[in-house]
Amino acid sequence: MDNLKTNKILAGFLLAGLLAMGGGKIAEILVPDQAIDENAYPVEIKQVADSGQATTPVNQGPEPILALLASADIEAGIKVAKKCTACHEFDADGKNKTGPMLWNIVDASKGMKDGFNYSDALVGMGGAWDYDALNAFLYKPKAYIKGTKMNFAGLKKPSDRANMIAYLRSLADTPVALPTQAQIDAQEVSIQ
Ligand code: HEC
Repeated sequence: MDNLKTNKILAGFLLAGLLAMGGGKIAEILVPDQAIDENAYPVEIKQVADSGQATTPVNQGPEPILALLASADIEAGIKVAKKCTACHEFDADGKNKTGPMLWNIVDASKGMKDGFNYSDALVGMGGAWDYDALNAFLYKPKAYIKGTKMNFAGLKKPSDRANMIAYLRSLADTPVALPTQAQIDAQEVSIQ
């Protein structure tokens, strides 16, 4: 290949490179910048805030349960209870297994089933298993009692908890009273 030819090829590459770099500049000169006031193709953005989701605070805890108990479904509760039977028995003559037997648990003192070796955390909490305590515990056991031995993630659906608690209530010779309308109203007010 003679020198001249090589030079021509090199010059070709060089020119191509320069054009590529300068192309933008040349275009700018040829087509002066025009300020664009408006988007030529308006894009419609759906207002999500209208639904109120973005503004209302996220409910962290369990939804209140009292109002749901009146219309709760015991049969549905028996189905939910299948999640418990690996560890709990529900009959009047039920035995303690991994967890204590749960006959007569509504309104019973916490940690008092004969012969069950409870965690210190549960016994130390004290109080009774009223509807609200059961609601909070079954929503997220480890959050309600830090250090509990109950390895169960919880029942996130309010209807599952209401049905489960209604079933637990039925597991007694004399089931405790359902919440009165006054108690339901008081709970509704306190969470507003
Ligand atoms: C993996 C086993 C396991 C599962 C599943 C489980 N539990 Fe438990 N449960 C336990 C243990 C263990 C304890 C005792 C906790 C402690 O001592 O901290 C307990 C304690 C309880 C108590 C307190 C009893 C008392 O005498 O104070 C209630 C109420 C209860 N469970 C309800 C339920 C319900 C309802 C379900 C199903 C929705 C369920 N548990 C699922 C193991 C389990």
